[in-house]
Amino acid sequence: MIREYADRLPVTAQTRVISLGEGGTPLVRAEKLAELTGCEVWIKVEGMNPTGSFKDRGMTMAMTAAVAAGAQAVVCASTGNTSASAAAYATAAGLSCAVLVPEGKISMGKLSQALAHGARLLQVDGNFDNCLELARKLAEAYPVFLVNSVNPARIEGQKTAAFEVVDVLGDAPDIHALPVGNAGNITAYWKGYREYAEPSGNAPAVSARRPRMWGFQAAGAAPIVAGHPVTEPDTIATAIRIGNPASWEQAEAARDESGGVIEAVADDQILEAHRWLSAREGVFVEPASAAGAAGIFKKFRAGELQPGQRIVITVTGHGLKDPDWGLQNLDGTPMQPEKVDFDVVSAARALGLEG
Ligand code: F0G
Repeated sequence: MIREYADRLPVTAQTRVISLGEGGTPLVRAEKLAELTGCEVWIKVEGMNPTGSFKDRGMTMAMTAAVAAGAQAVVCASTGNTSASAAAYATAAGLSCAVLVPEGKISMGKLSQALAHGARLLQVDGNFDNCLELARKLAEAYPVFLVNSVNPARIEGQKTAAFEVVDVLGDAPDIHALPVGNAGNITAYWKGYREYAEPSGNAPAVSARRPRMWGFQAAGAAPIVAGHPVTEPDTIATAIRIGNPASWEQAEAARDESGGVIEAVADDQILEAHRWLSAREGVFVEPASAAGAAGIFKKFRAGELQPGQRIVITVTGHGLKDPDWGLQNLDGTPMQPEKVDFDVVSAARALGLEG
Protein backbone atom coordinates (compact mmCIF):
# COMPACT_ATOMS: atom_id res chain seq x y z
CA MET A 1 0.00 0.00 0.00
CA ILE A 2 2.73 2.39 0.93
CA ARG A 3 4.17 1.76 -2.54
CA GLU A 4 1.26 3.78 -3.86
CA TYR A 5 2.77 6.85 -2.20
CA ALA A 6 6.40 5.92 -2.87
CA ASP A 7 7.10 9.25 -4.61
CA ARG A 8 6.39 11.00 -1.31
CA LEU A 9 8.32 8.54 0.88
CA PRO A 10 12.02 7.93 1.56
CA VAL A 11 12.24 4.93 -0.80
CA THR A 12 13.48 4.31 -4.33
CA ALA A 13 12.70 1.55 -6.80
CA GLN A 14 15.78 -0.27 -5.44
CA THR A 15 14.76 -0.12 -1.78
CA ARG A 16 13.92 -3.41 -0.10
CA VAL A 17 10.60 -2.40 1.44
CA ILE A 18 9.47 -4.45 4.44
CA SER A 19 5.71 -4.65 4.09
CA LEU A 20 2.83 -6.72 5.42
CA GLY A 21 0.24 -5.00 3.25
CA GLU A 22 -0.46 -2.04 5.55
CA GLY A 23 -2.56 1.00 4.63
CA GLY A 24 -5.60 1.29 2.42
CA THR A 25 -7.86 1.20 5.49
CA PRO A 26 -11.60 1.89 5.29
CA LEU A 27 -13.06 5.37 5.66
CA VAL A 28 -16.53 4.62 6.99
CA ARG A 29 -19.47 7.01 7.23
CA ALA A 30 -20.58 7.44 10.84
CA GLU A 31 -24.30 7.69 10.13
CA LYS A 32 -25.50 7.93 13.72
CA LEU A 33 -22.91 10.47 14.73
CA ALA A 34 -23.86 12.48 11.65
CA GLU A 35 -27.55 12.33 12.65
CA LEU A 36 -26.69 13.52 16.14
CA THR A 37 -24.37 16.36 15.17
CA GLY A 38 -25.67 17.48 11.79
CA CYS A 39 -22.12 17.14 10.51
CA GLU A 40 -20.71 14.84 7.83
CA VAL A 41 -18.69 12.40 9.92
CA TRP A 42 -16.22 9.78 8.71
CA ILE A 43 -14.27 7.19 10.65
CA LYS A 44 -10.80 6.17 9.48
CA VAL A 45 -10.57 2.59 10.72
CA GLU A 46 -6.89 2.01 11.39
CA GLY A 47 -7.56 -1.22 13.26
CA MET A 48 -7.75 -2.79 9.80
CA ASN A 49 -3.98 -2.68 9.40
CA PRO A 50 -2.09 -6.02 9.51
CA THR A 51 -1.36 -5.98 13.26
CA GLY A 52 -4.55 -4.11 14.12
CA SER A 53 -3.31 -0.55 14.57
CA PHE A 54 -2.05 2.51 12.68
CA LYS A 55 1.48 1.74 13.85
CA ASP A 56 2.00 -0.53 10.84
CA ARG A 57 2.10 2.46 8.48
CA GLY A 58 5.12 3.78 10.32
CA MET A 59 6.68 0.42 11.03
CA THR A 60 6.98 -0.52 7.35
CA MET A 61 9.18 2.55 6.86
CA ALA A 62 11.10 2.19 10.13
CA MET A 63 11.89 -1.47 9.41
CA THR A 64 12.82 -0.60 5.82
CA ALA A 65 15.25 2.00 7.23
CA ALA A 66 16.62 -0.53 9.74
CA VAL A 67 17.36 -3.00 6.94
CA ALA A 68 18.93 -0.28 4.78
CA ALA A 69 21.16 0.67 7.72
CA GLY A 70 22.31 -2.94 8.03
CA ALA A 71 20.78 -3.37 11.49
CA GLN A 72 20.52 -6.85 12.99
CA ALA A 73 18.22 -5.91 15.82
CA VAL A 74 15.55 -3.31 16.59
CA VAL A 75 14.23 -1.96 19.87
CA CYS A 76 11.21 0.06 20.93
CA ALA A 77 9.31 1.22 23.98
CA SER A 78 5.59 0.71 23.82
CA THR A 79 2.18 0.82 25.43
CA GLY A 80 1.48 -2.27 23.32
CA ASN A 81 0.65 -1.49 19.72
CA THR A 82 4.10 -0.36 18.67
CA SER A 83 5.56 -3.53 20.18
CA ALA A 84 3.05 -5.71 18.32
CA SER A 85 3.84 -3.96 15.07
CA ALA A 86 7.62 -3.91 15.57
CA ALA A 87 7.59 -7.61 16.41
CA ALA A 88 5.66 -8.50 13.26
CA TYR A 89 7.68 -6.31 10.90
CA ALA A 90 10.99 -7.40 12.43
CA THR A 91 9.93 -10.98 11.75
CA ALA A 92 9.14 -10.09 8.13
CA ALA A 93 12.54 -8.37 7.85
CA GLY A 94 14.43 -11.24 9.49
CA LEU A 95 15.65 -9.03 12.33
CA SER A 96 15.50 -9.67 16.05
CA CYS A 97 13.30 -7.40 18.10
CA ALA A 98 13.31 -6.26 21.71
CA VAL A 99 10.41 -4.36 23.23
CA LEU A 100 10.17 -2.53 26.53
CA VAL A 101 6.69 -2.21 28.02
CA PRO A 102 5.33 -0.89 31.31
CA GLU A 103 4.70 -3.87 33.55
CA GLY A 104 1.04 -4.78 33.92
CA LYS A 105 -0.12 -1.87 31.78
CA ILE A 106 -0.50 -3.30 28.31
CA SER A 107 -3.49 -5.25 27.08
CA MET A 108 -3.41 -9.03 26.74
CA GLY A 109 -3.94 -8.93 22.97
CA LYS A 110 -0.88 -6.78 22.41
CA LEU A 111 1.26 -8.81 24.78
CA SER A 112 0.21 -11.92 22.91
CA GLN A 113 1.11 -10.41 19.54
CA ALA A 114 4.62 -9.36 20.58
CA LEU A 115 5.36 -12.80 22.02
CA ALA A 116 3.74 -14.70 19.16
CA HIS A 117 5.96 -12.85 16.69
CA GLY A 118 8.99 -13.87 18.70
CA ALA A 119 10.05 -10.55 20.23
CA ARG A 120 12.12 -10.36 23.41
CA LEU A 121 9.65 -8.62 25.69
CA LEU A 122 10.98 -6.85 28.77
CA GLN A 123 8.46 -5.61 31.29
CA VAL A 124 9.79 -2.49 32.97
CA ASP A 125 8.90 -1.41 36.47
CA GLY A 126 7.87 2.05 35.29
CA ASN A 127 5.65 3.82 32.77
CA PHE A 128 5.94 4.31 29.01
CA ASP A 129 8.08 7.42 29.43
CA ASN A 130 10.62 5.40 31.45
CA CYS A 131 10.55 2.66 28.79
CA LEU A 132 11.25 5.18 26.02
CA GLU A 133 14.18 6.64 27.94
CA LEU A 134 15.59 3.15 28.32
CA ALA A 135 15.04 2.30 24.65
CA ARG A 136 16.79 5.48 23.53
CA LYS A 137 19.76 4.75 25.80
CA LEU A 138 20.00 1.18 24.50
CA ALA A 139 19.99 2.43 20.91
CA GLU A 140 22.67 5.02 21.69
CA ALA A 141 25.03 2.64 23.45
CA TYR A 142 24.40 -0.74 21.75
CA PRO A 143 23.94 -2.04 18.21
CA VAL A 144 20.13 -1.87 18.19
CA PHE A 145 18.03 0.32 15.89
CA LEU A 146 15.29 2.44 17.50
CA VAL A 147 11.86 2.13 15.83
CA ASN A 148 9.83 4.45 18.05
CA SER A 149 8.22 7.48 16.39
CA VAL A 150 11.23 9.63 17.35
CA ASN A 151 12.60 7.87 14.26
CA PRO A 152 11.53 10.16 11.37
CA ALA A 153 10.83 7.14 9.12
CA ARG A 154 7.84 6.32 11.33
CA ILE A 155 6.29 9.74 10.77
CA GLU A 156 6.87 9.45 7.03
CA GLY A 157 4.94 6.19 6.87
CA GLN A 158 2.14 7.38 9.11
CA LYS A 159 1.50 10.54 7.08
CA THR A 160 0.06 8.31 4.33
CA ALA A 161 -3.19 8.07 6.31
CA ALA A 162 -3.81 11.78 5.61
CA PHE A 163 -3.14 11.15 1.91
CA GLU A 164 -5.73 8.36 1.90
CA VAL A 165 -8.35 10.58 3.53
CA VAL A 166 -7.89 13.29 0.90
CA ASP A 167 -7.78 10.75 -1.92
CA VAL A 168 -11.13 9.29 -0.83
CA LEU A 169 -12.94 12.53 0.05
CA GLY A 170 -11.48 14.62 -2.77
CA ASP A 171 -10.22 17.24 -0.31
CA ALA A 172 -9.15 17.61 3.31
CA PRO A 173 -11.98 17.64 5.89
CA ASP A 174 -12.77 20.70 8.01
CA ILE A 175 -11.73 18.90 11.18
CA HIS A 176 -9.56 15.87 11.84
CA ALA A 177 -9.94 14.39 15.33
CA LEU A 178 -7.67 11.75 16.84
CA PRO A 179 -6.19 10.48 20.13
CA VAL A 180 -2.85 11.88 21.29
CA GLY A 181 -0.38 9.81 23.29
CA ASN A 182 3.27 10.09 22.36
CA ALA A 183 2.05 12.58 19.73
CA GLY A 184 3.65 10.96 16.68
CA ASN A 185 0.37 10.40 14.87
CA ILE A 186 -0.97 13.96 15.06
CA THR A 187 2.48 15.06 13.85
CA ALA A 188 2.30 12.61 10.96
CA TYR A 189 -1.23 13.50 9.86
CA TRP A 190 -0.41 17.19 9.91
CA LYS A 191 2.70 16.56 7.81
CA GLY A 192 0.62 14.57 5.32
CA TYR A 193 -2.06 17.22 5.04
CA ARG A 194 0.54 19.96 4.67
CA GLU A 195 2.38 18.10 1.93
CA TYR A 196 -0.83 17.41 0.01
CA ALA A 197 -1.79 21.09 0.18
CA GLU A 198 1.50 22.16 -1.42
CA PRO A 199 2.63 21.73 -5.03
CA SER A 200 5.11 18.88 -5.44
CA GLY A 201 7.67 19.21 -8.26
CA ASN A 202 5.59 20.00 -11.35
CA ALA A 203 2.41 18.60 -9.83
CA PRO A 204 -0.15 20.99 -8.32
CA ALA A 205 -1.38 20.65 -4.74
CA VAL A 206 -3.67 17.63 -4.26
CA SER A 207 -5.94 19.28 -1.70
CA ALA A 208 -7.19 22.84 -1.69
CA ARG A 209 -7.11 23.12 2.06
CA ARG A 210 -5.91 21.68 5.35
CA PRO A 211 -8.05 20.58 8.28
CA ARG A 212 -8.03 21.85 11.81
CA MET A 213 -6.30 19.20 13.91
CA TRP A 214 -8.21 18.29 17.04
CA GLY A 215 -6.14 16.05 19.34
CA PHE A 216 -7.50 14.48 22.50
CA GLN A 217 -5.54 13.18 25.47
CA ALA A 218 -6.96 11.13 28.33
CA ALA A 219 -7.63 13.45 31.27
CA GLY A 220 -5.31 11.51 33.59
CA ALA A 221 -2.51 11.61 31.00
CA ALA A 222 -2.84 15.05 29.45
CA PRO A 223 0.56 16.75 29.68
CA ILE A 224 0.11 18.90 26.57
CA VAL A 225 -3.19 20.21 27.92
CA ALA A 226 -1.65 20.84 31.34
CA GLY A 227 1.45 22.44 29.86
CA HIS A 228 3.84 20.25 31.84
CA PRO A 229 4.86 16.57 31.98
CA VAL A 230 2.68 14.30 34.09
CA THR A 231 4.88 12.06 36.23
CA GLU A 232 2.22 9.46 37.01
CA PRO A 233 -0.10 9.26 34.03
CA ASP A 234 -3.25 7.28 34.70
CA THR A 235 -6.10 6.22 32.41
CA ILE A 236 -8.01 3.10 31.41
CA ALA A 237 -6.91 3.92 27.86
CA THR A 238 -3.54 2.24 28.38
CA ALA A 239 -2.35 2.90 24.83
CA ILE A 240 -2.20 6.64 25.55
CA ARG A 241 -1.05 6.42 29.16
CA ILE A 242 1.89 8.74 28.50
CA GLY A 243 3.11 11.66 30.61
CA ASN A 244 5.86 13.19 28.50
CA PRO A 245 5.23 12.80 24.76
CA ALA A 246 8.30 12.64 22.53
CA SER A 247 6.66 14.71 19.78
CA TRP A 248 5.26 17.33 22.16
CA GLU A 249 6.50 20.36 20.19
CA GLN A 250 5.41 18.94 16.84
CA ALA A 251 1.94 18.27 18.26
CA GLU A 252 1.69 21.86 19.45
CA ALA A 253 2.82 23.02 16.02
CA ALA A 254 0.11 20.89 14.38
CA ARG A 255 -2.45 22.39 16.73
CA ASP A 256 -1.32 25.98 16.26
CA GLU A 257 -0.58 25.95 12.53
CA SER A 258 -3.94 24.31 11.81
CA GLY A 259 -5.97 26.50 14.17
CA GLY A 260 -6.86 23.37 16.11
CA VAL A 261 -6.98 22.23 19.72
CA ILE A 262 -5.50 19.63 22.03
CA GLU A 263 -7.92 18.90 24.84
CA ALA A 264 -8.58 16.27 27.48
CA VAL A 265 -11.39 13.72 27.65
CA ALA A 266 -12.28 11.85 30.83
CA ASP A 267 -12.15 8.05 30.99
CA ASP A 268 -15.94 7.77 31.22
CA GLN A 269 -16.26 9.93 28.08
CA ILE A 270 -13.80 7.63 26.33
CA LEU A 271 -15.82 4.56 27.33
CA GLU A 272 -19.08 6.19 26.25
CA ALA A 273 -17.60 6.94 22.82
CA HIS A 274 -16.13 3.41 22.68
CA ARG A 275 -19.60 1.99 23.25
CA TRP A 276 -21.22 4.35 20.76
CA LEU A 277 -18.76 3.32 18.04
CA SER A 278 -19.40 -0.39 18.60
CA ALA A 279 -23.13 -0.35 19.39
CA ARG A 280 -24.25 2.43 17.02
CA GLU A 281 -21.78 2.60 14.17
CA GLY A 282 -20.60 -1.02 14.00
CA VAL A 283 -16.93 -0.21 14.56
CA PHE A 284 -15.16 -2.01 17.41
CA VAL A 285 -12.08 -0.24 18.72
CA GLU A 286 -9.86 -0.37 21.77
CA PRO A 287 -10.56 2.30 24.41
CA ALA A 288 -7.70 4.70 23.55
CA SER A 289 -8.87 4.66 19.95
CA ALA A 290 -12.17 6.18 21.00
CA ALA A 291 -10.57 9.34 22.41
CA GLY A 292 -11.02 11.23 19.12
CA ALA A 293 -14.72 10.34 19.01
CA ALA A 294 -15.03 11.24 22.70
CA GLY A 295 -13.59 14.63 21.83
CA ILE A 296 -16.17 15.14 19.08
CA PHE A 297 -18.97 14.37 21.56
CA LYS A 298 -17.44 16.83 24.00
CA LYS A 299 -17.21 19.56 21.38
CA PHE A 300 -20.74 18.85 20.18
CA ARG A 301 -22.11 19.20 23.71
CA ALA A 302 -20.19 22.44 24.14
CA GLY A 303 -21.88 23.78 21.00
CA GLU A 304 -18.58 23.96 19.14
CA LEU A 305 -19.54 22.01 16.02
CA GLN A 306 -21.24 23.67 13.10
CA PRO A 307 -23.80 21.64 11.15
CA GLY A 308 -22.51 20.66 7.74
CA GLN A 309 -18.87 20.50 8.79
CA ARG A 310 -16.94 17.58 7.41
CA ILE A 311 -15.20 15.69 10.21
CA VAL A 312 -12.82 12.74 10.04
CA ILE A 313 -12.12 10.78 13.21
CA THR A 314 -9.22 8.36 13.28
CA VAL A 315 -9.85 5.28 15.38
CA THR A 316 -6.37 3.97 15.91
CA GLY A 317 -6.58 0.33 17.04
CA HIS A 318 -8.85 -2.71 16.82
CA GLY A 319 -11.29 -3.64 19.59
CA LEU A 320 -9.97 -7.20 19.73
CA LYS A 321 -6.70 -5.85 21.12
CA ASP A 322 -8.46 -5.28 24.42
CA PRO A 323 -11.83 -7.05 24.21
CA ASP A 324 -12.73 -7.00 27.91
CA TRP A 325 -14.20 -3.52 27.54
CA GLY A 326 -16.89 -4.88 25.25
CA LEU A 327 -18.00 -7.29 27.97
CA GLN A 328 -19.08 -4.75 30.52
CA ASN A 329 -21.82 -2.18 30.88
CA LEU A 330 -20.91 1.48 31.09
CA ASP A 331 -21.31 1.36 34.87
CA GLY A 332 -18.64 -1.36 34.99
CA THR A 333 -20.98 -4.27 35.74
CA PRO A 334 -20.32 -7.37 33.63
CA MET A 335 -22.67 -8.25 30.79
CA GLN A 336 -24.08 -11.70 31.37
CA PRO A 337 -24.88 -13.71 28.25
CA GLU A 338 -28.26 -15.35 28.79
CA LYS A 339 -28.62 -19.16 28.77
CA VAL A 340 -31.47 -20.94 27.03
CA ASP A 341 -32.47 -24.58 26.55
CA PHE A 342 -32.01 -26.22 23.16
CA ASP A 343 -35.56 -25.36 22.25
CA VAL A 344 -36.97 -22.85 19.78
CA VAL A 345 -39.71 -21.60 22.07
CA SER A 346 -37.24 -20.87 24.88
CA ALA A 347 -34.99 -19.02 22.43
CA ALA A 348 -37.94 -17.06 21.03
CA ARG A 349 -39.12 -16.21 24.53
CA ALA A 350 -35.65 -15.03 25.56
CA LEU A 351 -35.62 -12.78 22.50
CA GLY A 352 -39.03 -11.33 23.30
CA LEU A 353 -40.54 -12.88 20.17
CA GLU A 354 -43.17 -14.80 22.09
CA GLY A 355 -45.23 -13.62 25.05
N1 F0G B 1 -4.15 5.06 19.85
C1 F0G B 1 -3.55 3.88 20.04
C2 F0G B 1 -4.38 2.65 19.92
C3 F0G B 1 -2.17 3.82 20.33
O1 F0G B 1 -1.59 2.64 20.51
C4 F0G B 1 -1.45 5.01 20.45
C5 F0G B 1 -0.03 5.01 20.78
C6 F0G B 1 -2.13 6.22 20.24
C7 F0G B 1 -3.48 6.20 19.94
C8 F0G B 1 -1.46 7.54 20.32
O2 F0G B 1 -0.68 7.78 19.21
O3 F0G B 1 1.48 8.06 20.38
O4 F0G B 1 1.19 8.73 17.99
O5 F0G B 1 0.09 10.03 19.81
N2 F0G B 1 0.61 3.97 21.11
C9 F0G B 1 2.04 3.90 21.31
C10 F0G B 1 2.47 2.46 21.48
C11 F0G B 1 2.59 4.82 22.32
O6 F0G B 1 3.49 2.21 22.11
O7 F0G B 1 1.82 1.57 20.94
P1 F0G B 1 0.60 8.71 19.33
